[in-house]
Amino acid sequence: MKHILAIPGSLRAGSTNHNILKYLGALVSADVDYSIYSDLALIPPFDPGNDDDYPPEPVFELRELLKQVDGVIICTPEYAFGVPGQLKNMLDWMVSSASFSDKPVALITASLGGEAAHAAMLLILGALNAQVADGAKLNISFIRSKMDGEGNVTDVATIELLKNVLNAFLSVIQQ
Ligand SMILES: Cc1cc2nc3c(=O)[nH]c(=O)nc-3n(C[C@H](O)[C@H](O)[C@H](O)COP(=O)(O)O)c2cc1C
Repeated sequence: MKHILAIPGSLRAGSTNHNILKYLGALVSADVDYSIYSDLALIPPFDPGNDDDYPPEPVFELRELLKQVDGVIICTPEYAFGVPGQLKNMLDWMVSSASFSDKPVALITASLGGEAAHAAMLLILGALNAQVADGAKLNISFIRSKMDGEGNVTDVATIELLKNVLNAFLSVIQQ
C-alpha cells in the first residue's frame, strides 16, 4: 500500500487549499492511504540552535511521518507574494533532516494570483532535494471563483487540471 501525506499551507478553518486536498483524497483509490497533515500550527519557530536529532516533539513527529510516506502533496495559498510563514517555517525544519530528499512531491498553489508563491515553493523544494515531476505542479489563480460555498471545486477546467496533477504524481509514486 502506498502512503501519501497531504499538507495544506493555510491554517484557516474552511481553507480552500485544505478543501482541494480533501477533494484529491476522495479521488485516490482505496489501496492508497491518504492523510491530511493537521499539526502545522504546532510546529514551533525554526531555531537552528535546536535543529538536531532531538528537535521539538511536533518536528520530530513530522520527520518520522515523512520517513513513512511515499509522497507528499502540498497545497498552499500565497501570502504577500510569498509562501505562508508557517509552511515555510515547517519546511526550514526539514532541511537538515533531509526529510524531503528524493521524496516525490506534488505542488499546488491556489490563491488569487499565486505565481510568486508557486515559484518560491519550487525553489524551496529544490533546496530540499524533493522530486517534483513536471506534470505534478499547478498554480490555480482566482481559486475562490472556482469553488462553491461548501468547498467543492466547481470549475470544470480546474477539476481536469487537478486530476492531471494527481495522476502525474501517482504514476511517480507507483513506479
Ligand atoms: C495575509 C494575506 C495575504 C495575502 N496575499 C496574497 C497574495 O500576495 N497573492 C494572492 O494571490 N493572494 C493573497 N491572499 C489571498 C489568499 O491567497 C486567498 O485568500 C486564499 O484563498 C487563501 O487560501 P485559503 O482559502 O486556503 O486560506 C492573501 C491573503 C491573506 C490572508
